[in-house]
Amino acid sequence: MKKSEKIKAQKLRKFVLLYKVRPYHEKMEKKSVGNKEELKITLKCLFGFEQTLVEELEELGYPKAEVLNRAVRIIGTWRDVYYLNLYARCAISILVELDKFYIKSEEDLYRKSMKIKWTEIFDGTKTFAVKGAVFSTLFNNTQYPYLVVKDAIVDSFRNEFDDRPDVELKRPQVLFDLYIKENEVTISLNTSGIPLFQRGYREAVGEAPLNEVVAASLIRLSKWDRKTTLLDPFCGSGTILMEAALLAAGIPSNIERQHYAFKNLKNYDETVWNDIYDNAPRNVRSLPCRIMGSDLSDEMILKTRRNLRQMSFGRFIETKVCSFEENTKDNDEAIFILTNPPYGERLAANTHELYENIGNWLKHTMTNSQAWIITSSEEGLKSIGLRPSVKHKVFNGDLECSFRMFETYAGSKRTHFPFDEQETEIE
Ligand SMILES: C[S@@+](CC[C@H](N)C(=O)[O-])C[C@H]1O[C@@H](n2cnc3c(N)ncnc32)[C@H](O)[C@@H]1O
Repeated sequence: MKKSEKIKAQKLRKFVLLYKVRPYHEKMEKKSVGNKEELKITLKCLFGFEQTLVEELEELGYPKAEVLNRAVRIIGTWRDVYYLNLYARCAISILVELDKFYIKSEEDLYRKSMKIKWTEIFDGTKTFAVKGAVFSTLFNNTQYPYLVVKDAIVDSFRNEFDDRPDVELKRPQVLFDLYIKENEVTISLNTSGIPLFQRGYREAVGEAPLNEVVAASLIRLSKWDRKTTLLDPFCGSGTILMEAALLAAGIPSNIERQHYAFKNLKNYDETVWNDIYDNAPRNVRSLPCRIMGSDLSDEMILKTRRNLRQMSFGRFIETKVCSFEENTKDNDEAIFILTNPPYGERLAANTHELYENIGNWLKHTMTNSQAWIITSSEEGLKSIGLRPSVKHKVFNGDLECSFRMFETYAGSKRTHFPFDEQETEIE
């Protein structure tokens, strides 16, 4: 290689190295939305749904997701951040890494946090909060590190403007995520702000509603084909029906949501967001399948209808007030049941009797069907009297639940079911 070529190659290597190691916040001022900049984007999810989120990302065009604990990581741009906040149904929040460093002491956390150019990230008129998770013996009080980072942010503003932004813990306009694992610190921007299960479509809720992200994740985990009739016979305020319809219609689950913390950042590019949002599908003339819900309570069905009314597909969803056993079907019709019956925890129920009746109804009325049931009730699961083909351990809020699939056949003759190819996974 000639001397001049060698120098050129050296310079190029140095540039690549410099570009790679420059922390994200140093690049913040370059209004970088939509360009090729590589951001570490972490999508947080619920326990046990990492693979489900990976599959969703693959379908959305992100095939290279890395699985973390209750999270999935991709490399992308600000456009991807905006897009995924709108489209990812199984994500709880979306983080963009600002900096990662190692500390030996509490003072180190303050010193290194002060290096982040906070004043370039957001305007001092916006409220902010620092939240996250701390697993470190360096701190006696696990709340203390959040205060340290909060102080670094406030001091950075004071040093530059002689003024400071206010802290707002409930609904901050800008949210930072602090994650400390022993001496390794990661500081990220939580670009979603309030969690993404706050979809903006649910006006009326029942006593024990399912979290929207749990509902979306269960639907995906069940591998419903989006064509077979779906029935939720304990539909409450209709979360499963709503998420199933949004998925079948290809409408982003967050289409009704207005709040996103990324809109409060200095680099927010409204043109890019409007382009994504305005082009998102929202109006459909029909659904590719029947979606049906029923509940014993007329008050719940009223709530479901009120929630569905705002959606273009609302009129296609069939709802009725009745006990679950009153749902019947033709023998050769395939029905996909996905439901969240009372657990006996929040809603009073004679669990043994209820689940025994569910088992009998599945066996005798819902033949040639697949039924997925999520419940925390061990007594209930024993009382069903059917052997599950698939089991998953999941959480509904703090409640540990089992999500199980039961298949029912009429006699020995089994009709072909579109989900027969599904992998079986027994805990
Ligand atoms: C856990 S909640 C379902 C919540 C629902 N997934 C939601 O997101 O709002 C259980 C529902 O079962 C209903 N229910 C109780 N017993 C029933 C029965 N025998 N038949 C039909 N629905 C029943 C209750 O009215 C309640 O709305």
